[in-house]
Amino acid sequence: MPGEAPPIDPELVRVIAETRGFMPDDEGAALRRWAFEALTRVPSGPIIEVGSYCGRSTLWLADAARIAGGHVVTVDHHRGSEEIQPGWEHHDPEVVDPRSGRMDTLPHLRRTLERAGMEDLVTVVVGQSSVAGGLVRSGASMLFIDGGHGDAEARVDAATWLDHVAPGGLLAIHDVYPDPADGGRPPYERIYRPAVDSGRFVEMAAVGSLRVLERSR
Ligand SMILES: C[S@@+](CC[C@H](N)C(=O)[O-])C[C@H]1O[C@@H](n2cnc3c(N)ncnc32)[C@H](O)[C@@H]1O
Repeated sequence: MPGEAPPIDPELVRVIAETRGFMPDDEGAALRRWAFEALTRVPSGPIIEVGSYCGRSTLWLADAARIAGGHVVTVDHHRGSEEIQPGWEHHDPEVVDPRSGRMDTLPHLRRTLERAGMEDLVTVVVGQSSVAGGLVRSGASMLFIDGGHGDAEARVDAATWLDHVAPGGLLAIHDVYPDPADGGRPPYERIYRPAVDSGRFVEMAAVGSLRVLERSR
């Protein structure tokens, strides 16, 4: 179990509940606990999130950063993944920019951070994950990957980001389904498996579809 983080402010729980996103509360609470643990292990490193969407998971991470004196860098092009575009099950028409007809979640993310009073705790990077990975510094205390869930995107995210985790730091991956009956394969096959099979990461926790792995020292 990770180190004990102080209880979360009920007002923040309310803001999270009202924020669009894909992070169930039990997985978000686990993400917060492990992010707190990561910052006790590697206090100098940022928490890096790939896949901000409207900031729901970002708030769980940012609250850990607030308590532990850390900082979150969150990366997204804000145009939506393939599986949340118009016509797909999880598409939300409220995040479409009426001017362009394209998805734009950036204004929603900014509002979320403002509402939670967490703008100073989070640096928002708008762009392609593969490009941002070359620009953002390594040595992350925690890397949380919840970006594109297609095969190519997950493969590129693994190749781009896994080396960013500091020795002793933590890698969290969302939507990991070892059983194909439970959900899509790429986060499991292209990120989780290669990380574990490389021998550099060892699983520490599983909550729902969230997996937390430690990078060997
Ligand atoms: C599943 S959502 C993230 C959900 C969020 N973590 C939450 O808990 O609410 C995936 C996000 O990844 C972003 N994304 C997908 N592919 C990307 C890429 N290649 N570069 C940057 N962002 C990408 C999408 O725009 C989308 O907002």
